[in-house]
Amino acid sequence: MARRKKATKKVANKRKVRKKITRKKIAKKKATKKKITNKITRKTIKDISNNIEKSIKLVKSSNNDSDLANGQIALQTVRGMRDILPGDQAYWQQIRKIFEKRSVEYGFSRVDTPVVELESLFTKAIGKNTDIINSELYAFNAKSGDRVALRPELTASVVRAYIQHGMTILPKPIKLFSMGSVYRYDKPGEGRYREFHQAEFNIFGEDDAILDAQVMQIAHRVLKSLGIKNIQFRVNSIGTEESRSEYLKLLTAYFQSKKSKLPLKYRDIIKTNPMRIFDAKDDKCMQVCAGAPQAIDHLDKESREHFKNLLEYLDELDLAYIIDSHLVRGLDYYTRTVFEMSVVDERGLRHSLGGGGRFDGLVELFGGEPTPAIGFAFGIDRLVIEMKRVKAKKYQASQPRVFLAQLGDLAKKKSLQIFADIEQSGILVAESFGRGALKAQLRYASKLGVDLTLIIGQQEALDDTVIVKNMVTGTQETITRDKTVAFVKKGLKEISKLVKRK
Ligand code: HAM
Repeated sequence: MARRKKATKKVANKRKVRKKITRKKIAKKKATKKKITNKITRKTIKDISNNIEKSIKLVKSSNNDSDLANGQIALQTVRGMRDILPGDQAYWQQIRKIFEKRSVEYGFSRVDTPVVELESLFTKAIGKNTDIINSELYAFNAKSGDRVALRPELTASVVRAYIQHGMTILPKPIKLFSMGSVYRYDKPGEGRYREFHQAEFNIFGEDDAILDAQVMQIAHRVLKSLGIKNIQFRVNSIGTEESRSEYLKLLTAYFQSKKSKLPLKYRDIIKTNPMRIFDAKDDKCMQVCAGAPQAIDHLDKESREHFKNLLEYLDELDLAYIIDSHLVRGLDYYTRTVFEMSVVDERGLRHSLGGGGRFDGLVELFGGEPTPAIGFAFGIDRLVIEMKRVKAKKYQASQPRVFLAQLGDLAKKKSLQIFADIEQSGILVAESFGRGALKAQLRYASKLGVDLTLIIGQQEALDDTVIVKNMVTGTQETITRDKTVAFVKKGLKEISKLVKRK
């Protein structure tokens, strides 16, 4: 009995020792693994920073004058212009999608115009004494000798296209939507670029204020669908060109009396274009402008009635607005209604996201029939900035639900046809033909979060079969190649039900 007890104790001790050794071994293994991981992480970080340093050196060296003289290229964008990188594309995609959707909903047809136009088109429409024409226009002589310019906005081009292609005879109102890059030699800064992007909505042929209210409602809906909140609408009326002459006389006299208080740059335009002084962001100008006569107090009877109707429609639509009597907008073609959409950030700074107004005289100015018109443009770059600032939800591109992995040359060849079959059946499928090791491909598949992974190894390629791995349940099955599409469809359906039930 005593001997048996002793033997049991011995066995228990042995077990204890073995357990201890195993624990020690595991701990040692874990420590070594950690060391290796740390080493790898350190190495990866070092590699990444080395690569970044190399790229910076490359950019610096290639931007060096002597290298440039040797025919090297400068690896940087032109000042005020930038690349839109993959990380930001989701925002751009969402914005474009919303614009396209809303434009169709409201009955707009799309027009795309060239980036380069005759310079005179913009000078005539926007006005010679504006910042856009005076200092911001990218104008140059074309080889033909024509004086051309990169478009600083879209409206002048849309109006040109409207007349040039005889759209004037179409039943009114005519609604045109346009989107593209525009160029202004502006002082680059936050949300201020030399190449930026606009999307604009214009309606031709109606002067009823209800359309002014409708375009503002479209702008509001677009901003709301992008998740942009606390939008401020500022509105004003600057009357018709004819009725403005009396007001301009008063304004000129006022600025003349305050000339010494205005910065030099603005003294020159007192006589030629006094309303542009309201656009200035300069403190001194703003102080002088605070006491200036306001267009809204000098409107002709019809413009006053028009503005009153607009405000009533806006109230009806429950669209909040602020009447800003200093809002004149920096383009000369506006008549009556002008408006701007902006947001105020946490520092109290206002950012204009878009703006517009009536341009009842522009079609006629370009030689067309007198045609009232109203429209607005959004600055897309600024919408992206604002979406990021308010952490608006990003657009999610459709995710592939199937991944196709293959190993070996024959399998790769066979995969191409299977890939095409699945895609043609309308199922979004991802692959990684360039990635060699099966392990790396499977890692990529789980990173994508697909529901099914199809594997074609060397054996499957020879047998004309496919392994289908259900990534949700973890089960897998081998099927014949010709049944792949039907099997995938059935599998995805089942997974959808399963996931929904969960
Ligand atoms: P705009 O106010 O000159 O109007 O420009 C519209 C929007 O473009 C601005 O509200 C702003 O969001 C954006 N924007 C302007 N300059 C820059 C810049 N340097 N960098 C980034 N974004 C900028 C027009 O262009 C008129 N054509 C709008 C219109 C259409 N009126 C009637 N129909």
